[in-house]
Amino acid sequence: MIHILENQESLLSQYIAEVRDVEIQKDSMRFRRNMERLGEIFAYEISKKLSWKEKEVITPLGEAQCKVLTDQPVIATILRAGLPMHQGILNYFDRAENAFISAYRKHHKNGSFTIQIEYASCPPIDEKVLILSDPMLATGASMVLTYKELLSKGKPLHTHIVSILASAQGIDYVKKHLPSGSFTLWLGAVDDELTARAYIVPGLGDAGDLAYGSKL
Ligand code: URA
Repeated sequence: MIHILENQESLLSQYIAEVRDVEIQKDSMRFRRNMERLGEIFAYEISKKLSWKEKEVITPLGEAQCKVLTDQPVIATILRAGLPMHQGILNYFDRAENAFISAYRKHHKNGSFTIQIEYASCPPIDEKVLILSDPMLATGASMVLTYKELLSKGKPLHTHIVSILASAQGIDYVKKHLPSGSFTLWLGAVDDELTARAYIVPGLGDAGDLAYGSKL
């Protein structure tokens, strides 16, 4: 199942336009906040698919029948570019446990790269709903490796994979390498192209650098 949120007009489109815009990107605090706001919108949309239960709540004037989440999801992201969006998701699922994975592109002399995972901190995920976010789904390789790394820690009930921008190639890769039925893809917008260095075009550039500055 794939949800592309930009197919429906909403504030999400405004924030995606801003994170793509080279002028607005100069304000890194606004870039981070927009990524966070996008995370909040994804969290709200995903919440509609989660399990809810009735709860009687005592108000100052009586008793109200309310609905609350049956369980909190576990939310996971890939360091470092995923941090602002992760914060947005955590703002809404505020009691969730969190997983962090460090995955990076190790570039080789022939111009190719492989994804290296160096660190994974993960709470128990057996029978939990997992929300795994990475702002850019480019080749799909880091998302698939990260998902497999998390699966080595337990078996989630279902996984919601979230990216703000995806390439058509990245979507195909994820669909091909992850068991169908075990995950739902939530995307902001889909772009057609990838550069030779696997950047999404038109995309937005390097999400990690835009949020936190350049790295060596
Ligand atoms: N990571 C990014 O930050 N940008 C891309 O376009 C692809 C991967």
